[in-house]
Amino acid sequence: MENGAVKPVIVAIDGPSGTGKSSTSKAVAAQLGLSYLDTGAQYRAITWWMVTNGIDLTDPTAIAAVAGKPEIVSGTDPAHPTITVDGVDVSAPIRTQDVTSKVSAVSAVPEVRTRITELQRTLASSAEAGIVVEGRDIGTTVLPDADLKVFLTASAEARAARRSGELKGADVNATREALIQRDAADSTRKTSPLAKAGDAVEVDTTELTLAQVIECVVTLVEEKRAGQ
Ligand code: DC
Repeated sequence: MENGAVKPVIVAIDGPSGTGKSSTSKAVAAQLGLSYLDTGAQYRAITWWMVTNGIDLTDPTAIAAVAGKPEIVSGTDPAHPTITVDGVDVSAPIRTQDVTSKVSAVSAVPEVRTRITELQRTLASSAEAGIVVEGRDIGTTVLPDADLKVFLTASAEARAARRSGELKGADVNATREALIQRDAADSTRKTSPLAKAGDAVEVDTTELTLAQVIECVVTLVEEKRAGQ
């Protein structure tokens, strides 16, 4: 670019649960001075609102009818990401087992995806230095022109072991079954399922430490920037 100005860099990081997307994305954004957006938190937030307001989550029409109601605001500082719904801090309640078990049903509804995708695109286009956006459909649907797309994978065993560690002592087998079920639902839904974009770089994290995954993605971003 002219005048030595650095073009904002848009990084899409997709993949199933437990592959280290959040830890990696936050660290990469912090190291490179970029913003950070956890799109799963947005789907969890709208799910929390639906649960709190007694919406029938077995009825996609009922979900679609109120998809535009909650005001969801994401703070994109990687050192302190925040999420509010109608001004209420929901960062803790969106991580409950209740919300986790219901989020796939809510996020499969097209009206919900349209609404949340709009929020994501607005945040990405307003990030001055650039942004790392993590999710399931970022490279395929939300930001198809991202400068770099990364698709993280790991064996089901590794993913369950990591999630059980995060949930402090949760049963690994139960966690593994729940993860597999949620990934199957997220991968088979009709509207923008979990999928690897054709031009994404796949990184299998099964045998890698978090530090190694972070270094790998930082290097990929720097290579992209050098080539621009
Ligand atoms: O990343 P997470 O586990 O917090 O995501 C929660 C759910 O949100 C996940 O099961 C599917 C949904 N999701 C989605 O449909 N699209 C995204 N871009 C991110 C998450």
